[in-house]
Amino acid sequence: MKNNEFQILLIDDDEDDYVQIRDLFSDLTHNKYRLTWKSSFRDGLDALIRNQEQSAFDACLLDYQLGEHTGLDILAEVQKLDSACPIIFLTGLGDFDLDVKAMQTGASDYLVKSALTSQLLERSIRYSIKHASDLRELHENRALILQQDRLASLGLLASSLAHEIGTPLGIIRSRAELAEKKAKDSGANSTSLRDDMSVIVTQIDRISKLVHSLLHLSRGGPSGNTSAVDLHQVIEDVVNLIRPELDKKNIHLDLVLEQPVLVQAEAGPLGQVFLNLFVNAVHAIDEAVKTGHARDHGIELRVESIQGQSPADRKTLITLADTGCGISAKNISQIFKPFFTTKDVGVGTGLGLATSYKLVQSWGGTISVRSKEGKGAKFSITLLQKG
Ligand SMILES: Nc1ncnc2c1ncn2[C@@H]1O[C@H](COP(=O)(O)OP(=O)(O)OP(=O)(O)O)[C@@H](O)[C@H]1O
Ligand SMILES: [Mg+2]
Repeated sequence: MKNNEFQILLIDDDEDDYVQIRDLFSDLTHNKYRLTWKSSFRDGLDALIRNQEQSAFDACLLDYQLGEHTGLDILAEVQKLDSACPIIFLTGLGDFDLDVKAMQTGASDYLVKSALTSQLLERSIRYSIKHASDLRELHENRALILQQDRLASLGLLASSLAHEIGTPLGIIRSRAELAEKKAKDSGANSTSLRDDMSVIVTQIDRISKLVHSLLHLSRGGPSGNTSAVDLHQVIEDVVNLIRPELDKKNIHLDLVLEQPVLVQAEAGPLGQVFLNLFVNAVHAIDEAVKTGHARDHGIELRVESIQGQSPADRKTLITLADTGCGISAKNISQIFKPFFTTKDVGVGTGLGLATSYKLVQSWGGTISVRSKEGKGAKFSITLLQKG
């Protein structure tokens, strides 16, 4: 809908029909409709394909007879696109078989031109748009629930793996310490052995830190039960996990943290929100490097308190800014929508930010972005402070 006007596409090769339908629309006063007419199969199909990206039209009225093609051919093509634009069939004659076929191919409604009135047309469009929007919402919510389930089961897996790794690590560490001590006590020629043992202990400590972070982050999937979460602990765990990737890619990390703070959230899912922001930032920097911006790259994570009207209104603002490829003006309004991704199949599902948005919102917080193409991106999250 643009400027409070429903945008309707009419695909019909008969100008008289166009004039009739335009006149029917002009009789309507409740809602405003703007009609765009395409008179051939090709032009109509192109408009619907473009609509997939631009969402210019709210609904499409489609004539059955279109030269050597039929409206059913268009419907079949559009179904392949998984289009969200409802399509209402128009035919010259009432034909039950055709009606059923249109419905099976995915049409929202079927109207007989000779029996068309303004009210009938308006009602059919209104119901079709509402029905399509309900279906879209259902589909998106289902995907988000599945994604949250996936996160929860991955969390469970990671957490049991971290437990399993933790025990043998502890044993190896204490044996290495023992060997280090024995080497020390045995005197001659033992310096190199002692050094080796001390390297082993340091490296085991590094693995233990990673395992602990993984364990913290995977504790519990989204449950809807918020609690007072130690923000610095969550950030530390996420940074522990992402740091090797940043080091490998020479991405410097600036952490600007105020004194520790408790926020209203869920620890594991909050870590997953940050992890997705970090992974997105790394991908965006990869993209910038690929397109020739190989300058120093970095990510800055900043945490600060925002004073509210009263102490109970205090919020924490977390910003994560990167020097990556940035987001185009066309894409920026899409990035929090489920399935929106610019990444290759297998790299991104387009559910990271949509899931983050839902989670942060469920904790009473907000998430937003500022970015320009080629100029990096800055994500801001506000969370309520607790205690
Ligand atoms: N920091 C960023 N810089 C530039 N573009 C970004 C940034 N973060 C997100 N985007 C854009 O937003 C899109 C959606 O991000 P989102 O995290 O929802 O999904 P994804 O990363 O593509 O896939 P997933 O997170 O499900 O693996 C990305 O494909 C990318 O185009
Ligand atoms: Mg992502």
